[in-house]
Amino acid sequence: MIVTTKKLFEFAYDKFAIGAYNINNLEQTMGLFRGNLDSKAPFIIQISKGARSYTDKRMLEAIIGAANDVFSDSIFAVHLDHGDLEACLDCIDSGFYSSVMIDASAEPFEENVRITKQVVDAAHAKGIVVEAELGKLGGVEEHVKIDEKDARLTNPDEAKDFVAKTGCDSLAVAIGTSHGAYKFSGAQALRLDVLAEIQKRLPKFPLVMHGSSSVPEEEVRRINEAGGKMLGAKGVDENEFAKAVPLGVIKVNIDTDGRLVWTRVHREFFKDTPEKFDLRGPGKIFMAEYAKFIAHKNEKLGSAGQLEEVRKVV
Ligand code: G3H
Ligand code: 13P
Ligand code: ZN
Repeated sequence: MIVTTKKLFEFAYDKFAIGAYNINNLEQTMGLFRGNLDSKAPFIIQISKGARSYTDKRMLEAIIGAANDVFSDSIFAVHLDHGDLEACLDCIDSGFYSSVMIDASAEPFEENVRITKQVVDAAHAKGIVVEAELGKLGGVEEHVKIDEKDARLTNPDEAKDFVAKTGCDSLAVAIGTSHGAYKFSGAQALRLDVLAEIQKRLPKFPLVMHGSSSVPEEEVRRINEAGGKMLGAKGVDENEFAKAVPLGVIKVNIDTDGRLVWTRVHREFFKDTPEKFDLRGPGKIFMAEYAKFIAHKNEKLGSAGQLEEVRKVV
């Protein structure tokens, strides 16, 4: 069942975080639904602009629609990840998305407010929920000075002002994470202190953590042993999710980790059986491994086992 994130967030706030997983194809979709049902968790499917144009946006929508029938006990939201104004308006119009993200975080504050407000007005008119972003997700650049790094993080006072001016339903905050497999060059630097300050100014308001893949060492080791070259890859400690939940985080975005599972499965498969060429061999292993990965993540997020309670409120 496709639901809006609003009800999910109200129920989850301060209890657990909901996994928001990106998909690009059939195998990811199958693994995702299986893993969430196996762990009895509500979830969010994210489709990025890149995923929409990978084949044709209608393909992913049709696959998700079919999965909704095949895995009919599932409860999930369909969300546009990192949309611009054009993509947001297109998804709002399509009638398929229950939630969109407008990412105008690269713009100056007032321009971010202006664009976000335009999306909020269009989305709310159709009962669609809007996630916005304030602050800049960092990278591993060690040379960047501490005060410069801090300047990229979400400013708690601005966050309060931004939410009041835009009317957005949730806010993606920059608290030290970054996208991709190379998040930290030294010690992990998740700024839970900044998150706490944001929550103080926005009590009970849903906050979102992007760039939350944990880039497991074991996964990277296996990829490299099977011919990969991922040196220095490092992610977020998944045990930190439980600390972020009481500070207002209700949605945790994970994409890179799924790509790592895909890469490991396919590299190992073709290394171990170089004579094979049937794509369904590694495809089947990937779907099962991805389902296992999702179920494990949901345990860490606290969403595992919540499905029946959520069903009562959506
Ligand atoms: O935050 C970005 C997501 O990982 C989506 O990545 O734009 O390559 O599909 P993508
Ligand atoms: P990762 O690259 O850490 O998986 O982050 C994904 C994300 O934030 C999608 O919006
Ligand atoms: Zn993101």
